Amino acid sequence: MRKELPRTGRTKEALLDEMRAMKAGDTDWQRGRAPLFVFKATQELYETNRAAFFEFFTENALGGRRAFPSVKRMEDEVVEMALSLFNAPPDAQGTMTTGGTESIIQAVQACRDWTRKQRKAPRLRGNIVAAESVHPAFNKGAKLMDLEVRRAPVGLDFRADPAAMEALIDDETMMIVGSAPCFPYGVIDPIETLGALAERRGLWLHVDACVGGYLAPFAKMIGRDIPVFDFSVPGVSSISADLHKFGFAPKPASTVFYRTPDKAEFNSFDFSDWPNGRFLTPTIVGTRPAGGVAASWATFEFLGVEGYKQIARDLMSFIDAYKAGIRAIDGLEILGNPHLSIVAYGSKEFDVFRVAEIMHAKGWLPGLVQKPKAIHRMMSMIHAVSLDEYLADVRAAVGVVRQQGPQQASIKATY
Ligand SMILES: Cc1ncc(COP(=O)(O)O)c(C=O)c1O
Repeated sequence: MRKELPRTGRTKEALLDEMRAMKAGDTDWQRGRAPLFVFKATQELYETNRAAFFEFFTENALGGRRAFPSVKRMEDEVVEMALSLFNAPPDAQGTMTTGGTESIIQAVQACRDWTRKQRKAPRLRGNIVAAESVHPAFNKGAKLMDLEVRRAPVGLDFRADPAAMEALIDDETMMIVGSAPCFPYGVIDPIETLGALAERRGLWLHVDACVGGYLAPFAKMIGRDIPVFDFSVPGVSSISADLHKFGFAPKPASTVFYRTPDKAEFNSFDFSDWPNGRFLTPTIVGTRPAGGVAASWATFEFLGVEGYKQIARDLMSFIDAYKAGIRAIDGLEILGNPHLSIVAYGSKEFDVFRVAEIMHAKGWLPGLVQKPKAIHRMMSMIHAVSLDEYLADVRAAVGVVRQQGPQQASIKATY
């Protein structure tokens, strides 16, 4: 039976009781049992974020220019601080969005319109050439804009293979893509080589730093070996970077940046042919939560460079311990050489999805890669809390799988 709107309302207390009871059936993310979806650095930052978000709970970032200069100022300052972080030239521009998908769709649309103008080909259909490991958001954007996405196999190190990508480029290619890092394997693609390719072929290189954008610069500052991925690479035209992932701001918050104003020009939507006059929005959405803007600004100001470096230190030491723990389990191996906090591990000896099934039964929601089969986690400090418990459960699960002998898992990889 379809649920209907209740005839009369209930008290706040009654509702909160019910919502909390509903939550009891959710994955226990606070103890690191969700392989992705949630991010946390420290309790102090979490509390600051909540306070900042609720301070601007009702305001609307759509009205930033006219009604809420406070929101506009915070948005502009977030973009400026991030542009500096990504070594952008002085006239580079950017905007906040509500997520990685929106940032990517914005960049794809700006690239399409810029390329059509450059090539004086307003009807050019266009294609995007990317490694097979790039996020589905590129296909989502392509679907909306009737573009084609061509995915090239990754190399043996699971990074984008520039030669395999170049083989897919033709006269209709508009954009090439590199990830920093890609979601499936957590490795940063060879952005310098892709930048050179983009320059040589006159193409727009988008770097999808949705995952790594606000972690990689600080990991580098603390001495980690992080390949260059930002505007210091000459061929990079645009970058997407999510604040609501490893920027540690609450959802919804992401950013997209363009190297030059002539490219940024195609990002916004400007329309006047309706009864209410000029309708100018920086992105495809209209109403946007000001809470996401305010909390992102507060996160930057609360942490500063030193705060982010400390988070990178804590997180990367945890990841080192995690990798060492996985490597110490006989039969498991980590795919490639993950640069940040996404790690996937598989096995040449048994079906690792069987391990995932046993882990699932113990309350660990599995994150899975299907090519090659692997167990996948995008981790933050929430996962550090249960490191020992997780590793002990994996070790025990591997033991069970070995004992059971050859058996195929029935679980399927689902994002
Ligand atoms: C590499 C990468 N790009 C883009 C996205 C899309 O981000 P969102 O889920 O915020 O739309 C993700 C999400 O995990 C991602 O891992």
